[in-house]
Amino acid sequence: MELIERVLFILQLLLAVTAITVVALGVTFFFIDRYKSPDAVRRNYPVLGRFRTLFTKLGEFFRQYFFAMDREEYPFNRAQRDWVYHASDDRISNMIAFGSTRNIEVPGTPIFVNSAFPPLDEEASAAAPLVIGPGAAQPYIARSIFNISGMSYGAISKPAVRALAGGAKKAGIWMNTGEGGLSPYHLEAGCDIVYQIGTAKYGVRDAKGNLDDDKLRRIAGHEQVRMFEIKLSQGAKPGKGGILPGDKITPEIAEIRGIPMGMDSFSPNRHAEVHNWDEMLDLIVRVREVTGKPTGVKMCIGTADGIRPFFDAVLRRGLDCAPDFITIDGGEGGTGAAPAPLMDLVGMPIREALPRLADIRAEYGLKNRIRLIAGAKLITPADVAWALCAGADFVVSARGFMFALGCIQALKCNKNTCPTGITTHKKDLQRGLVVANKIERVATYARVITHEVEIIAHSCGVSDPRKLTRGHVRIVQPNGRSKRMDVLFPEPDAQISAA
Ligand SMILES: Cc1cc2nc3c(=O)[nH]c(=O)nc-3n(C[C@H](O)[C@H](O)[C@H](O)COP(=O)(O)O)c2cc1C
Repeated sequence: MELIERVLFILQLLLAVTAITVVALGVTFFFIDRYKSPDAVRRNYPVLGRFRTLFTKLGEFFRQYFFAMDREEYPFNRAQRDWVYHASDDRISNMIAFGSTRNIEVPGTPIFVNSAFPPLDEEASAAAPLVIGPGAAQPYIARSIFNISGMSYGAISKPAVRALAGGAKKAGIWMNTGEGGLSPYHLEAGCDIVYQIGTAKYGVRDAKGNLDDDKLRRIAGHEQVRMFEIKLSQGAKPGKGGILPGDKITPEIAEIRGIPMGMDSFSPNRHAEVHNWDEMLDLIVRVREVTGKPTGVKMCIGTADGIRPFFDAVLRRGLDCAPDFITIDGGEGGTGAAPAPLMDLVGMPIREALPRLADIRAEYGLKNRIRLIAGAKLITPADVAWALCAGADFVVSARGFMFALGCIQALKCNKNTCPTGITTHKKDLQRGLVVANKIERVATYARVITHEVEIIAHSCGVSDPRKLTRGHVRIVQPNGRSKRMDVLFPEPDAQISAA
């Protein structure tokens, strides 16, 4: 009896202390909010106003689970993410039943034009390999239409790089290093690598930040490095160089990039030695000559006509000076870190930029000389098939492969706190990313998407995806009716010829 009384007394005491603490905190917060806070809501509604910030934060988190509709969120909605999650897991079938949940009256939706006489299984085939850079000392025979877009080691973690490289090897696709240089983790699985030279020239720079031919030659000495991509711009931040927050710079990353620890690392807004298209061609020729490997450029365009002087310069100087490929990134492209106005509103979206660039390439008679690689939210088979119809020779994806790695679109790539270990260098968070498991998922995603693009091509009546043309896709218009893409973007006859 005495024991129960004692316990009750202690409980009452704890309750009283808690109540006094809560009241004391409430009174303190009341005075802080009313008289000290710079926040108008907290001044006008002391204490209560604090819950607004909390609920806003929680809302961001919970909406994606409970409230957002399947096709509602940005940058990628749940239906898109789920498609990739399922396509990355070879235990789950991507077959669906009963009927499509997709609203096909949304403007921009691609509707593929099925054929009355699709090829039989024995008449159908996969896309044939395509040569890039036939004039380079070591041309690249690229086997896959769908490949991994540039994400630097630094923006993404060591296990993420290892998983992507392992998956790329397994699926027979290439992996782009992004602008952070080449690490041992890119090389360990033996996949094909595209080395990106960003404006800071990380990994191939001298002490002053200029391109160092010896370092370039050393990188090219790795047989796995098949091509070089000079980055002019990317869709998420055209006109702004790369940004790697100081929190994400480990000693190893600092060493690979040749930068100091502890402070944010910014690459310049352009290559300092390139002021115009002629100097761009000079740099392309230099890199190709030093490395012996196909060399191209990556960019996001503002207008289509702005790119014409580049093609004029190629024809004026001769095809030996041409880039072997152009990677065209849409303004809706992703990144590890970028200023919001650039991410939101600068750069032409891929749905317009790709067909326009393909037209200009055709007009200049350079279709067989310059390969077109397209990226920006092209993460499902319909997106990839659309890009091939529009004129792309290859498609690349960054965020599609991040979803394959388990990304949950937490939008924290710049904070070093990624909950799935993909864009953080914190060991305890990286623990969740089991490399062996993710290698399988990356490879499965690449295989499934390629296979399903083939299914679309066969349904359109062509034997392989490379035979898809603009006549094979209709685009839904604002009035809900669709128009064939070759009517919206008529393919030009070659008018300006290299001959
Ligand atoms: C985490 C992250 C890091 C990236 N790093 C680079 C980079 O180093 N260089 C580059 O050219 N693009 C970089 N990108 C952009 C992608 O390569 C790609 O162009 C863009 O995200 C569009 O493709 P997506 O929509 O499939 O992601 C990065 C994107 C992400 C999400």
